[in-house]
Amino acid sequence: MRQSLVAGNWKMNGTRASIRALLDGVLAGIGDVKHAEVAVCPPYVYVPEVAERLAGTPVAVGAQDVSDQDQGAYTGEVSGAMLKEVGCTYVIVGHSERRNLYGEDDAFTARKFAAAQRHGLVPILCVGELLEEREQGITQQVVARQLDAVLELCGVEALARAVIAYEPVWAIGTGKTATPEQAQEVHAFIRDRVRSRDAGIADGLRILYGGSVKAANAADLFGQPDIDGGLIGGASLDAEEFLAICRAPGAS
Ligand code: PGA
Repeated sequence: MRQSLVAGNWKMNGTRASIRALLDGVLAGIGDVKHAEVAVCPPYVYVPEVAERLAGTPVAVGAQDVSDQDQGAYTGEVSGAMLKEVGCTYVIVGHSERRNLYGEDDAFTARKFAAAQRHGLVPILCVGELLEEREQGITQQVVARQLDAVLELCGVEALARAVIAYEPVWAIGTGKTATPEQAQEVHAFIRDRVRSRDAGIADGLRILYGGSVKAANAADLFGQPDIDGGLIGGASLDAEEFLAICRAPGAS
């Protein structure tokens, strides 16, 4: 069976001191997380320090973004090779904040996905619809378009070394969680779309849910058959809350 993954996306939050305290809290309780794999995604500048602290622990490290380029004159960019060298296992690609606040489109996101894999990182590809898209009844079309951009550039085999996160944009940071049934419907749609190309890859693919996951709703979400863990924003900044999500039935 698929091993759940619970990944904390810290976004642009934290200081050295607050991150040390957060890691102390997570490490103090990680022994009680029996089955889920756990990862944290700090802001770039803190990645080396966090990776050093977490080396030899069960908690993996991811970055929140990666350049589509490998090296060279790309001011402000950070390459997959750099992230790999400083200890990242995962990298979030195509988060809705990148897509919607910084105008990153499907093709650009697919190139970032490819760049991550070129350097041995496991991309966590985020997909999800805006509120108006859900209201127009085009959720599946939007998610299919975002997924297909990666399938076309990288092929379905690439999903054997990747994770998908379904994050309805209207549920991110809003306190409005998708119901377990709403989330399950989209997760099943994603898995079926991959299955139409390769059943084995579809069965092994971890599809996380993200969007206002908390300890109070994690078990209901993670209990759905096609939900294999979560990408956690706000609640990952609180060690106790994050650990409670990692321990939720269905994730462990
Ligand atoms: P949230 O963020 O848990 O704060 O809604 C999730 C995400 O953006 O990955």
